[in-house]
Amino acid sequence: MDTRKPLKIALTKGRIEKNAVEIFKAIGADCRGLENKGRKLIFHDDRYNVDFVLVKAPDVLTYVEHGVVDIGIVGKDTMMEFDKNCYELMDLKFGKCKFALAGPKGKNFYEGYSRKKIATKYPHVARSYFKKLGFDIEIIKIEGSVELAPILGLSDAIVDIVETGTTLKENGLEVYNDICDISTRLIVNTASLKMKKMEIEDIVDRLKEEIVKKEQSDKSKEVIS
Ligand code: PRP
Repeated sequence: MDTRKPLKIALTKGRIEKNAVEIFKAIGADCRGLENKGRKLIFHDDRYNVDFVLVKAPDVLTYVEHGVVDIGIVGKDTMMEFDKNCYELMDLKFGKCKFALAGPKGKNFYEGYSRKKIATKYPHVARSYFKKLGFDIEIIKIEGSVELAPILGLSDAIVDIVETGTTLKENGLEVYNDICDISTRLIVNTASLKMKKMEIEDIVDRLKEEIVKKEQSDKSKEVIS
């Protein structure tokens, strides 16, 4: 029996949860609890002696920053919005999407002299983007379904993540400008990286192998189709 304290890994609930569980399953971790979770909050795996926790994206950063969790699986979007002290160890290459400036189809966002209003769940990202452009804007923070804001006339445009583009399309909106690409990252607490180097490296190496395998299989599928 492993007498060491389990390594703690925080996974982000929602959009990237399925892919995160899949990759840990692929490296042989016991993910049965994560797949049938009910109201449980911590799921143990014996293979790597890991405790998985499922939390909201910003909380992944908070737990890792404070060192009560060693590893976090979180989107680059959340990392850009909440500038926390966590070390990014690898790009897991799933949950790919982009940050974009979007708004009502056919409108020229840049015309006119009025100060534009931007609705977003990501005020920090939006502010930095327009600051770089030297553009003065007003930010309106929205918690979800941000596409509604320009439709209802609350804002001129939105800064949000776009994955398939379906939400924009189905609501009469379009991308004005791409801001940057996003994918899921593996982050670590810097002290954990020193203290639990071997355990962390073991998992990270296996995840790396899995990503390479998946990329090769995706490439051969592309060739066939
Ligand atoms: C995200 C994002 C868009 C949508 C984009 O919202 O804020 O609304 O997904 O995806 P698509 O390009 O594939 O249509 P999410 O589903 O995370 O929900 P929320 O708006 O309630 O936060």
